[in-house]
Amino acid sequence: MNRAPKGLSGGSSLDPARVPAHVAIIMDGNGRWACARGLSRIRGHLAGAESIREIVRAAGELGIGYLTLYAFSVENWKRPKREVSSLMALLKRFLAREEAELNRNNVRLRAIGRIAGLPSDVQGALRKACAATASNTGLTLILALNYGGRSEIVDAVRQLCARAARGELTAEEVGEETVAGSLYTAGIPDPDLLIRTSGEMRVSNFLLWQISYAEMHVTPVYWPDFRRPHLVRALLDYQRRERRFGGV
Ligand code: FPP
Repeated sequence: MNRAPKGLSGGSSLDPARVPAHVAIIMDGNGRWACARGLSRIRGHLAGAESIREIVRAAGELGIGYLTLYAFSVENWKRPKREVSSLMALLKRFLAREEAELNRNNVRLRAIGRIAGLPSDVQGALRKACAATASNTGLTLILALNYGGRSEIVDAVRQLCARAARGELTAEEVGEETVAGSLYTAGIPDPDLLIRTSGEMRVSNFLLWQISYAEMHVTPVYWPDFRRPHLVRALLDYQRRERRFGGV
């Protein structure tokens, strides 16, 4: 019997032993996808939510351990009020609707970012979905919400300063592990692969500390069109890379 996870057999040359443990995605291009079809931007976000659904399922089946999705940045509040409130409503609906699907697929949900800055109903929906999936043991899906790489580092520094002020820590004791352990992602391995859709060559304030040695895969495909075959292509691209981590 073929025991390879779905998608790793049947003609694909993915090496199941070298599937990245952590994949992070900058889901870009919802607006352009919608605009190209004469639709409102929110219709692009709605279609983007469908891609999330498919990619979460595929990531679990392919044996990825952690999937971090950049769903709403600290900068996204600058968007028109109507778009922001539609995104928040979509997020709340998504959390309620996907809970059963996440449980069916053994997916554990987590969130990173300044969660206390989200509307309270969204926070409630998030708490509920995270609690309902907390004991799942498959893929960990991490939604980055009201997230910024720089604000994450600021929050970590504040935390470390507070510990130092209480006499729990000296400057000399602060090392990379102390900083990493004070980030929202404490305990989560750094991403091995960073995917960005819609062709932009930017990291846009995403996981600045954690992507130090991540491999990057940029595809011109808009996020609402990004489906399982595109994820497999990104993994194949990743598996062709030689990772040296600064060595030779
Ligand atoms: C970028 O597209 C995408 C976002 C602002 C965040 C991603 C949001 C979703 C996929 C919607 C659903 C999310 C959840 C968690 C249910 P863009 O609007 O910046 O595209 P553009 O650059 O073409 O304008």
